[in-house]
Amino acid sequence: MKIAIVKETEDLEKRVAGTPETVKKLISLGFSVDVEEDAGINSFFSNALYKTAGANIVSDTNTIVSSADIVLKVNNVHKDGKGADNIKYYKNKTKIIGSLKPLQNKEKIKDLANNNIDAFSVELIPRISRAQSMDALSSQSNLAGYKAVIDSVSEFSKAIPMMMTAAGTIAPAKILILGAGVAGLQAIATARRLGAIVSAFDVRAAAKEQVESLGAKFIEVVLDNTEVSNNETDTGYAKEMSEEYKKQQKDLLHQTIKTQDIVITTALIPGKEAPELITTDMVKDMKPGSIIVDLAAEAGGNCKLTKLNETIIAHNVKIMGYANFPSKLSQDASSLYSKNLFNFVQLMVKDKKIEIDWEDEILQKSCVSYDGKVLNI
Ligand code: NAI
Repeated sequence: MKIAIVKETEDLEKRVAGTPETVKKLISLGFSVDVEEDAGINSFFSNALYKTAGANIVSDTNTIVSSADIVLKVNNVHKDGKGADNIKYYKNKTKIIGSLKPLQNKEKIKDLANNNIDAFSVELIPRISRAQSMDALSSQSNLAGYKAVIDSVSEFSKAIPMMMTAAGTIAPAKILILGAGVAGLQAIATARRLGAIVSAFDVRAAAKEQVESLGAKFIEVVLDNTEVSNNETDTGYAKEMSEEYKKQQKDLLHQTIKTQDIVITTALIPGKEAPELITTDMVKDMKPGSIIVDLAAEAGGNCKLTKLNETIIAHNVKIMGYANFPSKLSQDASSLYSKNLFNFVQLMVKDKKIEIDWEDEILQKSCVSYDGKVLNI
């Protein structure tokens, strides 16, 4: 059994799908591990560290990819990809495991199936207790939520905590978090640690208790009907809300946002455009010098004015729309992601052989391409 860890080539991508630590673990599962030369360089894992862990360092992309049974990836592969991101290197029945974003990349998944490449996508791993150690969405969102607050604070022209000085008192900053999933909850915790007054909003009623337990105020849309308590899918994700709800949400946010210093937005609906929560009029009414960090930028943005991978100033508000926050913490992000993938790979190995147990719902539901067929999307 041969497994390959390759160099990611997408712009802004600094992570790697295997670390020296997981190389050792993969070897103990019975794999021989090839690592593409400099695969870990942007996460500060040198070739020497991988070699000491027992990996072979391979410089030729074709050799490493075409000889592997399993290739561990961060991003998907496709026709125009550079290096190991190019589908041409992958032979029949190679298994790719990665963050393939299948709902946004249906054409790329079809190409995988057409080329008889088997693929498993971490986004589709069910969020059940047994799969928590494989939950790459959570490990990466958690870091993104933290980093979004840190970046916003470093761009902010005021202090965050209350400061009482001989020259006068500085009021604590107000930070609003929109979307209280994994990223949002970490953003709340980080903002609280820095001394901000934090409030948060989410469409899922279940988020209220979580927000409050972190010491933040929950901003709530109250409707006469039952929508608020019935706004979650069976898998725990947010549903798209009704027009009436959206109108009330907009009014409430407009009032709230006027008083805030920093807004971190994280609201996503799987497979859909991100909901637009902050309109141009709301930005116009924000305090001069306020900051918005839009973690949903890649999915279209939660703020009307967000520009992907740019920081802009509009109406005296700085709006940051970076796409890959986990990559800004590439060392930790790679370590956690690699552990997630290792735990997933373990499910595929029986007696030092690769064996897919289709009764296992984790494997079954995360598989997007198998034996030439597109699955689960
Ligand atoms: P996500 O990244 O898909 O979305 C982020 C947040 O945005 C969610 O909380 C969502 O409710 C919220 N949102 C969507 N539309 C919105 C709108 N119009 N306005 C305001 N907020 C909006 O979510 P994430 O972080 O991946 O978590 C999804 C669910 O999975 C949550 O219920 C979470 O608690 C659950 N989960 C369960 C785990 C488990 O192992 N059981 C592990 C991690 C998350």
